Amino acid sequence: MSTSKFKAAAPKGVPDYVPPQSATFAKVRDTLVHHARLAGFEHIELPIFEDTQLFARGVGESTDVVSKEMYTFADRGDRSVTLRPEGTAGVVRAVIQHGLDRGPLPAKLVYNGPFFRYERPQAGRYRQLQQVGVEAIGADDPALDAEVIAIADRAYKALGLRGYRLEITSLGDHNCRPQYRQKLQDFLFQLDLDEETRKRAEINPLRVLDDKRETVQSQLADAPLMLDHLNDECRAHFDAVTNYLDEMGIEYTINPRMVRGLDYYTKTCFEFVHDGLGAQSGIGGGGRYDGLMAQLGGQELSGIGFGLGVDRAILALEAEGITLKGTEQRVEVFGVPLGEVAGARMPLLLNSLRQEGISADMAYGGKGMKGAMKAANRSGAAYALVLGEAELAEGVVAVKDLAAHQQTEVPAEQLGKWLLEKLR
Ligand code: HAM
Repeated sequence: MSTSKFKAAAPKGVPDYVPPQSATFAKVRDTLVHHARLAGFEHIELPIFEDTQLFARGVGESTDVVSKEMYTFADRGDRSVTLRPEGTAGVVRAVIQHGLDRGPLPAKLVYNGPFFRYERPQAGRYRQLQQVGVEAIGADDPALDAEVIAIADRAYKALGLRGYRLEITSLGDHNCRPQYRQKLQDFLFQLDLDEETRKRAEINPLRVLDDKRETVQSQLADAPLMLDHLNDECRAHFDAVTNYLDEMGIEYTINPRMVRGLDYYTKTCFEFVHDGLGAQSGIGGGGRYDGLMAQLGGQELSGIGFGLGVDRAILALEAEGITLKGTEQRVEVFGVPLGEVAGARMPLLLNSLRQEGISADMAYGGKGMKGAMKAANRSGAAYALVLGEAELAEGVVAVKDLAAHQQTEVPAEQLGKWLLEKLR
């Protein structure tokens, strides 16, 4: 073994969430999941790696995600596998493989966990990112589009976020998009574009609309837009979605130039954008994908879903100066034993409290009053349970309300009941 000093560090662009911030991470994730569950979405747990072909076919070979950002490697059996860069392709694969598309439709699924993209790391852009996602597969109903969007909006509001906006558009379907694509290409080919952009116009002309360079943007003012070239069905679908949003009181702006980084989208596409995050402003996004099931070998069923970035939601909370309720409290009560006998009694007392469902920790290692009270305050507990010789002699516990700075003596055998009344 090498004797040179090794200092372990997480790989570049991969965030850790350690206490106390990890409490916010868990709360954000759970809140996003909770709002999906309120609409009947069921948990699905999927592999972190899949056959590389799944993403090449599902997400699209011409996307940056597939062509530049995948963590792909050969396993020891020489199979090409890829760490999942996103969740939709895997969910659709599992729906087909397990026949969920033969059960009650739409299949409504919610997932969360890490995804991997080899992007250039910067604030809010990580190589391991965390998402909460939903997919509803098997119903081409605009009410479902509105429901999915409303889940995200409600979840963000429940977190207390205000500084975001919803952008929405329609990307058409396999009937109207090819004609539009041709129109857009005809327009782009007569512009003054560099070689690389011209190539992009050939492979994926929609992405040129998203080019941030002024030299390109200045030529795009009169570019034809998909939204003006929808066929009747797509137009009616889009109008129905926006009508639902209006009636639900969900504000949105229509952004006909929105470009999503994944190829499977059709019809409704949306993004939640936060103004406090700088360049990486997308806190969540999604849309409808009417061809993906068939593309991956399943029935011709449509689907819609979203992926909400947990990392970016946390950054958005920080940008708005929001602390989530409950994240500062590690335990409800904290034991402060004074002296050896109390030190031996406290673990048993806390054990019985935990059996009643009260979360509890204590000062270990024979700490004195000052150090133990400091630890109690740090834990965020509502009450410190002080046990010294006098309390032991009387069979009571001195219960200190750490916020109100008041102390009450409670008989030891009634402590659980007393605390439950105060805490619940
Ligand atoms: P996406 O827009 O690629 O969509 O990602 C969804 C969200 O994940 C983004 O809005 C962003 O908040 C977060 N995210 C993406 N990349 C990074 C990164 N490098 N660092 C931090 N956060 C990131 C999808 O992944 C689709 N599967 C969503 C979907 C589901 N569409 C239909 N169903």
